Formats: sequence, structure tokens, C-alpha cells
Amino acid sequence: SGAVDIAEDLLAWYDVARRDLPWRAPPGQRADPYHVWLSEMMLQQTTVKAVAPYYRAFLARWPRIEDMARAPVEDVLAAWAGLGYYARARNMHKTARIVADELGGRFPRTAGELVKLPGIGPYTAAAIAAIAFDEPATVVDGNVERVVARLFAVRERLPGAKPKLRSLAETLTPRHRPGDFAQAMMDLGATICTPRTPACSRCPLRADCQGLAEGVAATLPLRAPK
Ligand code: ADE
Repeated sequence: SGAVDIAEDLLAWYDVARRDLPWRAPPGQRADPYHVWLSEMMLQQTTVKAVAPYYRAFLARWPRIEDMARAPVEDVLAAWAGLGYYARARNMHKTARIVADELGGRFPRTAGELVKLPGIGPYTAAAIAAIAFDEPATVVDGNVERVVARLFAVRERLPGAKPKLRSLAETLTPRHRPGDFAQAMMDLGATICTPRTPACSRCPLRADCQGLAEGVAATLPLRAPK
């Protein structure tokens, strides 16, 4: 079936199966942009499991972005210890100051504006715009590339296939609930459409999956030989 049905099936699954992660707002509520930004900064190159306790500690210590902006950068770096890639913590503090001191405590509402802030690349900008502001931005990480490669049985190899996978992911992104759609793709990739042994029998998209129909789902995406 078409892109709209695929998005609808995925969202229906998300409504019953979504992971209860500390940065997610209750179903039907929009997440706080500060919460989304904080979690997405931490989730760059760090797992959900490792991030959760740090996320809770940061919010307990700095409940609002103004609180983080007022803290010495050394305190933010010390609280970050263990997460790695300290440039992320320095950039977070810079962004906290810009948002608190120059933008009245409000994050820009579009991916095009968010990407101008320190430490916010195209991936993070799209994630914040979709999850916090309902912009139909497409969020593509390794999980999403894998789901899309299987769904459309893309046999072209990574990294060359990246533009094609992005464009296919864009065709699926709904105008309605783009943030839930993005997080549903992440959850599907993390819990069902896993790298080695996907649980296709439990997949909400199994009826639409060309990779499954062709018996190649678990082998995709292909990678260039080293
Ligand atoms: N990885 C990056 N962002 C995420 C999110 N919002 N939920 C789950 N996993 C993620």
C-alpha cells in the first residue's frame, strides 16, 4: 500500500507499543523544546540506556534552560562526565546562553533556524523541529536507513545509498504527527527491525515490506566491502 497507509500503520503501532522514555511527553501532548533538545544532544552517539540517567540528572539540576545558561560551563562539563565527546557539552552550554539571553528563552521553531545553533546539525535540527514543533521534517539515522532499505528492498550499498534512503524516508513522513512518526521509526529500528535478527512476524509494516516478501530483509542494508 501507499506511503500514507504505511505512516498510519506505524503510528497506530506506536500508540500501543512506544517505549516510555523520560524525554517523551505523555501521548497526545507536545514535548517541551528544552527537553527534546537536551535529550537529542545527549543521544548523538550515545545509547538510550546510557543517556536516561544523565538526562534525569540534568533536568533535576537545571529545570529550565535559563538555569543551565547561568551555570558555569565547568559545572556542565562535570555533569556530562562519562557521556564522552565533551564538545557536545560545551556546545550545549553555548546554545543555552544564546536561547536564554538572546532569544527570550524560546528555541527557534524550524529546522532551518535550529541548525544555526552550536552543536545542532541537520539530524538534531530535524528531530527537534519534528518532535517539539510538528514540522514535517524527516529524521534519518542508522535505524531509519535500515527500516527504509528493508521496506523498499533497496540493494544499493551504503554509504552510496544514503540519498536514496533519505528520499524514500521523506516520501513516508506524514504532515500529521511527524514527531511521533520519527520516534516510531527509531523504536521500530531499535526493537523489531533490528540489525541481525529482525522480528518480522511482529512488525506493524510486514504487509508492506518488500524486503520481507523477497526474503532479503535481514541482509539489508548492504555495505560497501572494506
Ligand atoms: N535516538 C535519538 N533520538 C531518539 C528519540 N527521540 N527516541 C529514541 N531514540 C532516539
